[in-house]
Amino acid sequence: MKYVSLGASGLKVSKLSLGLWHLPASSVKDEYGVYNVDVGLAKKIIYRAIDLGINFFDTANIYHGTQHIPDIHHVGLSERILGEAIKGYDRESLVIATKVRFRMADHPNGEGLSRKHIMWQIRESLRRLQLDYVDIYYFHRPDPDTPVEESLEAVSDLVRSGKVHYFGTSRFHPDDVRYIYRYCRDLHIPYIVLQEPYNWLERHYGEVYETENQVFPVAKELGLGIAAYIPLAQGVLTGKYLSGIPPSSRGAYVDEISRRYLTPKTIEVLKEFHNIASELGISDSQLALAWIFKVSEVSGVTVIPIVGATRIEHLEDNVVAVDINLDDYTFKRLSDLSRKALINWSGGYVRVKRMLQHN
Ligand SMILES: NC(=O)c1ccc[n+]([C@@H]2O[C@H](COP(=O)([O-])OP(=O)(O)OC[C@H]3O[C@@H](n4cnc5c(N)ncnc54)[C@H](OP(=O)(O)O)[C@@H]3O)[C@@H](O)[C@H]2O)c1
Repeated sequence: MKYVSLGASGLKVSKLSLGLWHLPASSVKDEYGVYNVDVGLAKKIIYRAIDLGINFFDTANIYHGTQHIPDIHHVGLSERILGEAIKGYDRESLVIATKVRFRMADHPNGEGLSRKHIMWQIRESLRRLQLDYVDIYYFHRPDPDTPVEESLEAVSDLVRSGKVHYFGTSRFHPDDVRYIYRYCRDLHIPYIVLQEPYNWLERHYGEVYETENQVFPVAKELGLGIAAYIPLAQGVLTGKYLSGIPPSSRGAYVDEISRRYLTPKTIEVLKEFHNIASELGISDSQLALAWIFKVSEVSGVTVIPIVGATRIEHLEDNVVAVDINLDDYTFKRLSDLSRKALINWSGGYVRVKRMLQHN
């Protein structure tokens, strides 16, 4: 494994992070009719990740790992499983990131970025993770009902009390990132990372901003790292969907996979992508991750792919990418090819509510 500093911070993270949003399913359903997580296998994946040198783990209070849309009955399970799995390891050797924002309970303060919700949820996350502190605490999305200054002042208190070491945001508009960065400087909050959707097919996001054209420049300007989520386009860049949807894949239970990715145009380009991987003698997943590492090198922005895995073999396959250096010709060929099928995901972006007007 190789380790890099996350942006301009001193925090060293493995070049690959393991994400714990979707976890392997068992064949048994719970009382809500939802397939349980195969907890034993999920833990084995975490153990194997640590064996392979991965020190950077990504979860969120809302993640439950089941094959189901988020609901308040299942939230927190991913943090609990991670907490159980890492109990026997040296805490100081690991970098644990979690998030806050989405609905955790069915009452008016059960979601958001108010001081009340943040203070409650950090206590809950630490309890589920069985930890005294988290390395990175993210705002999972903006909360348009709460002044962002209130939220940041809560984070400042968490940093001062030692419960949180570093801070990050996920899918905040670049202008809001600049504003938050200045506010964090005033409050001495170490704001070090942006968590953004980014992969070979999804280099542009939304009509409001584009990842490469706007997020990368702001990250570079402010010395922030980028934690790239869905780096394999939720498994689409592994080649597994080239001849249909395998029954055990995410595409078998998440409609979005077909809707968003499996169009005739994308499949055609994915076949060309597969041919390039075969020419290089590597797997499609390795090529997708090596392309991100090359983007990181060329752009001068630390980009850490957060990969998901439902089998140990996935991790073993993906981790090889850390040692693959794409040559300039292949990088350009791939970057040009991806333009033929770029997916522009225009979900719109929520802007933060500001209490104070700074320049
Ligand atoms: N901040 C946010 O809002 C946000 C949003 C989404 C995700 N995230 C973070 O990003 C992490 C990664 O997201 P993701 O799971 O969608 O990422 P991904 O790495 O693009 O997709 C992972 C999925 O691809 C399949 N896969 C992975 N490696 C494979 C291999 N070598 N061969 C074959 N199949 C393979 C597995 O799915 P199947 O086996 O089930 O097909 C796996 O669950 C999450 O866990 C979470 O931590 C953050």
